[in-house]
Amino acid sequence: MTEARPSGLPLTPAAIRALIAKVPRLDIAIKNTPLEEARNLSRHLGGPRIFVKRDDLTGVAFGGNKLRNLEFRLACTMQEEPDTVIVGLDLQSNSARQTVGACNRLGLKTILVLEGARPNAVQGNLLVDYLLGAEIHFAADRDAQRAIMDRRAAEVRAAGGRPHILNDNPMFDVASALAYIETTLEVLDQLAERALAPSHVYMSSSGKGQAGILLAGKLLGAGFAMHGVTATDEFHLPSRTAGIARQTLDALGLDVPVCEDEVINFDGYVGSGYGVPSEAGNEAVRLFARTEGIILDPIYTGKAAAGLIDHVRTGRLGRDDVVVFVHTGGTPAVFTWNTLWTGEEDRPAAGGQS
Ligand SMILES: Cc1ncc(COP(=O)(O)O)c(C=O)c1O
Repeated sequence: MTEARPSGLPLTPAAIRALIAKVPRLDIAIKNTPLEEARNLSRHLGGPRIFVKRDDLTGVAFGGNKLRNLEFRLACTMQEEPDTVIVGLDLQSNSARQTVGACNRLGLKTILVLEGARPNAVQGNLLVDYLLGAEIHFAADRDAQRAIMDRRAAEVRAAGGRPHILNDNPMFDVASALAYIETTLEVLDQLAERALAPSHVYMSSSGKGQAGILLAGKLLGAGFAMHGVTATDEFHLPSRTAGIARQTLDALGLDVPVCEDEVINFDGYVGSGYGVPSEAGNEAVRLFARTEGIILDPIYTGKAAAGLIDHVRTGRLGRDDVVVFVHTGGTPAVFTWNTLWTGEEDRPAAGGQS
């Protein structure tokens, strides 16, 4: 942490990039990702211009938003010179898949401890975890997960290895926010090349990436509204997002107040719960696929797109708006939930969950 100094706003993009450049980082993700205009989707909805920021195309193991944050997190990890990364996450975690892919790039072994039972049909992210060569353990709950991580770390150490438990790395939230400050700068440049500026940015949010986009807008004095759409009711997103934004400002050495009233987050598109597809989300997945050939996922991005589509249909977004939809990845879940797309919804989907 640097010492925070009062900051005159707005900052220039170059000044923000220079601050981020002081944070240790590796080069893992493909950047810049494309910004594509979804003309057919806009026409179909009779709505605003919609641009899709293709962060599903960040390059490693089917891509996604976590590869950008792993550049910062794993830079911090590598200072300990580990040979093995141990991480505890959910059974069908996008983050787990991208972590294994990134660790493979760095020549590190990955041990995944996933919360849940091994399904009979291995699909989606879990299938890719196996393909990537992770050592995989299953844990009944968070306590069991922690115990397995600690046990494997001790065993690796006893065998002469150098384990690092990634859950203990403090960077997760701030790394995501830093990554999405930078993504916003990319988007603004890409739109400026078309002589445009965004009026709204939509993204599936658990608070981390959204904090970055909110901060970018605030630091630059840009006039867009950041609309996070949550896929989980686990958190109070406004306070969580504002808290992550404050930590990130602290890491950048900036003294700028952020309060939770500045955070716009829609929690009405979760459906019946985290990890369970919703009708509106599934319709959004089909619509993006059928109008643009862009594959979303039914757990995160489909639900965020459902929010955007609803806001067009209900007149919250008008024809003059310029909307950016950040595609955060998660696409392997379409295979987990295969029967949603074949019309055989009465048959159980392979693997379940997110
Ligand atoms: C596909 C996808 N979108 C969005 C999110 C939420 O991103 P954040 O944690 O940066 O809010 C996740 C988190 O796991 C995700 O996997």
